[in-house]
Amino acid sequence: MAERFYYPSDEVLAQANVPEYEQRYRYSIEQREAFWAEQAATLAWYQPWDKVLDDSNKPFYQWFTGGKINIIHNAIDRHLTGATRNKLAIIWESEKGQVRSFSYHALNREVCQFANVLKSMGVQKGDIVTIYMPQIPELAFAMLACAKIGAAHSVVYGGFSVEALAARIEDADSRVLVTADGGFRRGKPTDLKSIANEAMQRSPSIEVCITVRNNGLEVQMESERDFWYHDLQSLPIASPRCDTEVMDAEDRLFILYTSGTTGKPKGLVHTHGGYAVYTATTHRMAFDIKPEDRWWCAADPGWITGHSYMIYGPLINASTLIMYEGAPNYPYPSRWWQMVEKYGVTILYTSPTAIRGLMRFGDRWSARYDLSSLRLLGSVGEPINPEAWRWYYEVIGGSRCPIIDTWWQTETGGFMICPLPITPLKPGSATKPFFGNEIGVVDDAGNEVPVGEEGKLVVKNPWPGMARTIFGDPQRYAELYWGDYADKGYYKAGDSAKIDEDGYVWIIGRMDEVLKVSGYRLGTAEIESALVSHPAVTEAAAIGLPHELKGTGIHTYVLLRSGLIGDKHLETELKEHVARELGRIATPESVQFVESLPKTRSGKIMRRVLRARALGQDEGDLSTLEE
Ligand code: PRX
Repeated sequence: MAERFYYPSDEVLAQANVPEYEQRYRYSIEQREAFWAEQAATLAWYQPWDKVLDDSNKPFYQWFTGGKINIIHNAIDRHLTGATRNKLAIIWESEKGQVRSFSYHALNREVCQFANVLKSMGVQKGDIVTIYMPQIPELAFAMLACAKIGAAHSVVYGGFSVEALAARIEDADSRVLVTADGGFRRGKPTDLKSIANEAMQRSPSIEVCITVRNNGLEVQMESERDFWYHDLQSLPIASPRCDTEVMDAEDRLFILYTSGTTGKPKGLVHTHGGYAVYTATTHRMAFDIKPEDRWWCAADPGWITGHSYMIYGPLINASTLIMYEGAPNYPYPSRWWQMVEKYGVTILYTSPTAIRGLMRFGDRWSARYDLSSLRLLGSVGEPINPEAWRWYYEVIGGSRCPIIDTWWQTETGGFMICPLPITPLKPGSATKPFFGNEIGVVDDAGNEVPVGEEGKLVVKNPWPGMARTIFGDPQRYAELYWGDYADKGYYKAGDSAKIDEDGYVWIIGRMDEVLKVSGYRLGTAEIESALVSHPAVTEAAAIGLPHELKGTGIHTYVLLRSGLIGDKHLETELKEHVARELGRIATPESVQFVESLPKTRSGKIMRRVLRARALGQDEGDLSTLEE
């Protein structure tokens, strides 16, 4: 932790949107509501709020109550006058090199048309539309169209598979599903529609399924239920004019499911008002957004990073964003660098896994391209190891671009701990709290642990971008996040961390049964239940172990039905089974056949014992072990 600082250049300092941190931070804490009111005032409201923060029903905080707003009014409508109207909103490139771009004017047209289509299908304010798509412009149009008419979207990552999709459709009780025939990955078509069809069979609430023609795969369509997107967009009902629904600040914008400690994914609920204020402010300040920027968030819209910083934050800030559907190293490891040069990307925001993945090909791939347009780099999703940080900084950023390492979660909506471009950096630390936030590292009683010691990461205050609840389970929301330190009003992040003598925060990792595999968030319970759904398996345990590229790799232990023998063939079959149920990202690195699993007397699997054994470490306190 005794790292040397990396200081910003004079050029970075001279152009900073936020030229000073300490004093402004103090103000944002002492006068939190005034700070957020100032930020909210930069957005367009149909009607101003009565109260900035309503904390009368903790932990169900509300922000900007009484205010009327729609995030689309801010992300699109208000950009339709003046010069921004013809500015590019989205530049999309497919893996094959096809390019489609949309000005704000064109984006508005596409969104209005699809909004009218959704309305004609009976979608109303308050409904939840499930979206399961590859990373194509229509994914953004579908999300934005829902928000425009006041329906909430529930985007399910296109890399997820049948069971994951079915469980999310069922929990949201969605009537409408928007999907595509499929996408492309490494030159091969991927199939989404048949997965969607199977999921609809398992969760029959879907009455209308709209499919985008994208990769041309043959698909099975059912009359009455299935429609082609492009057919609908060319009907007279798909008029390019549509009013934006006036929403309460606290109305639901979207649900996004994430993994937790149980097999059932949690649908985190975000709102129109607070989320718009939070994503726009964090994006503008942490990434120093200028009108001429070309912003590339190389995430997938199916995750919170894509929601907040590929779509909503950048569009509210009238940025030009880059979207790329495909693998970073296809057809060559220079693909991304070629795109940076081609589009003059000024800011690249990605994950440590992607950086490590490209780093392994060496420096020569990026050296062929002119990366001088880059002025800032970002990282998200997992701790970035100093080696990858330095490569990113020196080789990609030419030792010129500060690395904005942003710590946050699906639950937080936006950045909670991150540097500003002016902040001196230490590789591997997300540095300091964002404005308005007080961060602590505490023990079980909620007391601050000594400097440099590991403890539990907490946020000591509410913030506008916070998830408001877990869809359908407010009790679980209150207990899970706010229950441990209810007396103090702290939010428990589920991560362990340290704070060093300079006040810099170092994230160590998850403390619960959540794994970050290539930055993707997966629950051990989901993987286990996928394994147990195979007829050969009676019990299963999943743990995470360090993996050079992915950060964490999934390792599993399986008890077979009596009489069955675990062999290589079954191991492969079980790995494929998990990939088919949950998605390829959840494929275990290993399946070990065991006779028993270490359990507590109450029957809970002691994963930490499995982990310690696998790593050859001390197994710790075994007093609760059953046998
Ligand atoms: O463990 C932390 C890790 O990702 C978790 C949140 O995952 P998810 O909800 O999928 O959101 C990821 C994108 C915001 C956190 O609890 N994490 C996220 N960002 C960082 C991180 N760990 C270390 N450094 C980060 N910058």
